[in-house]
Amino acid sequence: MTKGFYITTPIYYVNDVPHIGHAYTTIAADILARYKRLKGYKVFFLTGTDEHGQKIEKAATERGRQPKEHADIMVENFKSLWKALNISNDAFIRTTDKQHMEVVREILMMLYQKGEIEKRVYKGMYCIPCERFWTEKDLIEGRCPDCGREVEYIEEENYFFLMSKYQTSLIRYIEENPFYILPESRKNEVLSFLKSKPLGDLCISRPKHRLSWGIPLPFDENYTTYVWFDALLNYYSALRYLASTDSEWWPPDHHLIGKDILMTHAIYWSTILMACGLPLPKNIFAHGWWTVKGAKMSKSLGNVVDPFEVIKKFGVDAFRYFLFREVSFGLDGDFSEEALVRRINTDLANDLGNLVNRFLVMNEKFLNGRVIPTFIEDEFVKSFNSLISQIDNEALWDEFKFNIILDKIWEAINLTNNYIAKTEPWKLAKYSPETLPLVLFNIWNAIRVITVFLSVFMPDRTTKIWKALGLSSYSIDERMLSWRIDFKELKTEVVEQIFPRIELKKEKTEEKLQDLISIEEFSKIKLKVGRVVSAEAVKGSEKLIKLIVDIGEQRQIVAGIGKYYKPQELIGKYIVVVSNLKPTKLMGIVSEGMLLAATDADGAVSILTVDREVEPGSGIK
Ligand code: ME8
Repeated sequence: MTKGFYITTPIYYVNDVPHIGHAYTTIAADILARYKRLKGYKVFFLTGTDEHGQKIEKAATERGRQPKEHADIMVENFKSLWKALNISNDAFIRTTDKQHMEVVREILMMLYQKGEIEKRVYKGMYCIPCERFWTEKDLIEGRCPDCGREVEYIEEENYFFLMSKYQTSLIRYIEENPFYILPESRKNEVLSFLKSKPLGDLCISRPKHRLSWGIPLPFDENYTTYVWFDALLNYYSALRYLASTDSEWWPPDHHLIGKDILMTHAIYWSTILMACGLPLPKNIFAHGWWTVKGAKMSKSLGNVVDPFEVIKKFGVDAFRYFLFREVSFGLDGDFSEEALVRRINTDLANDLGNLVNRFLVMNEKFLNGRVIPTFIEDEFVKSFNSLISQIDNEALWDEFKFNIILDKIWEAINLTNNYIAKTEPWKLAKYSPETLPLVLFNIWNAIRVITVFLSVFMPDRTTKIWKALGLSSYSIDERMLSWRIDFKELKTEVVEQIFPRIELKKEKTEEKLQDLISIEEFSKIKLKVGRVVSAEAVKGSEKLIKLIVDIGEQRQIVAGIGKYYKPQELIGKYIVVVSNLKPTKLMGIVSEGMLLAATDADGAVSILTVDREVEPGSGIK
């Protein structure tokens, strides 16, 4: 039997509607699942919902519903979001599925009979929203260390999974398998937690009178099982009734999760599997957290971003792209519509969209849309293919380095755009008609290969590009990554802008009376004309440029304009400088002033200059 590729997302609570955080994990899993399918793997991509427990019971009661009735309604929000996001999951598990519940009971019985579960008196604190027990020591200022909410004191008989005995073997396992918990910083967190104190045993039951909305223990029907025990087992139970039996799926290749549920996966899940005698997953990857304008998303702040709204406004592909280009997977990120629009306008409309649409128009005009395969190994083809082999490096994908992959895809896009600027096909049509088809074919071929990679990130728009390239009778698969394919009789087709620019309406800035300043206040700011003497990019920063500016004396100024200006083009410019600012440090470099620049709605920066040459150091009033 062949080994398949098995990837999972967390199963999400159905207490509320999904938001961009849930979308984030699921899209990430989708991207990797699509890439693996492209590479010829048999993939099982699982997502689903976590439907038992107090949290769900409470949410249902608040809405005057029975828990199952509530779950049946809420689950549809997740299912329709995955559809809207083009998620290619192979199965969807619900913990209220009868078959899942049977597997949970079977495993509980097996562990009980093996002596891995014991009855004891439990005394301690319990956090309802997190469904977790805490010891007094764990609490922070008497509150749950995870969510900061109030905890309840509980004293009762309960069943315990004897997790503590696996502490040493788990530490050893994590140390011997560097890929097991990623990113590295998360692995270190888990290790330092495991090494800091003795691991306790895990309380896995609730008396039925306190929690009836759960799976009854098979060896004591007066108790229901702890929601995490039920939830984590979904990764295993799904294979028993939702996966095809033509491949071996266990152990999973990746459990993709957010950093909030790292410990439950790295510790509870790992030790449960050890007790079951099952091999551990190959990897648990805990990604970072999305905030909105710097704040945690929460209902009370009213800043929860609805993914359906974002898709409606900006398109599904732009959203999928933004989430993975903007932030390195693993780190935290901040969501704003402005940042999303900037990415759409620069990367998607300018770089990618223009490349495709310009090419299609030229090919139509000069070759009537024909595609004429001619293969030459010129500089462009060589550099392009070297980039392609870097992008197709599976190790990058296996570690979810999506932003590096996208950076490289954009290098390939820019290389192709530069090739057009250099070869000037519109001139070739006049002066060297014999080389024109060759150049146009190179561009067509480059767009084709780029589209194959982009299809895993943006499955919607890339289908349109594929069709416009004349390729609708070919499926997008691994074969399509090779440069040399002797396509016969293809014809391209001019289409509308693939990624139209988006103009955000400028909010009218009405200056309120209390915002006005006096002439004295204004005259405190000393503005001077400065001539840029030298400029260089600051190492390790995309944005910062270090300038030496003559304002009658030489000043060093560090400015965040690197995305919009190359250092060389600044030299000799006459700019406007605030000369009496207190010096500050940016990335360790002293900046002794500030230059003035305009920022438009897209965030694009334009430096203010003077329209005649004036003596450097002249004042501005
Ligand atoms: O924890 N940024 O479900 P859940 C990034 N049922 N990712 C986010 C996010 C944010 N702001 N908010 C949520 C549960 N997520 C359990 C899991 S698994 C056996 C049981 C994502 O609905 C992220 O993947 O609270 C996080 O781990 C998950 O949603 C939590 O979803």
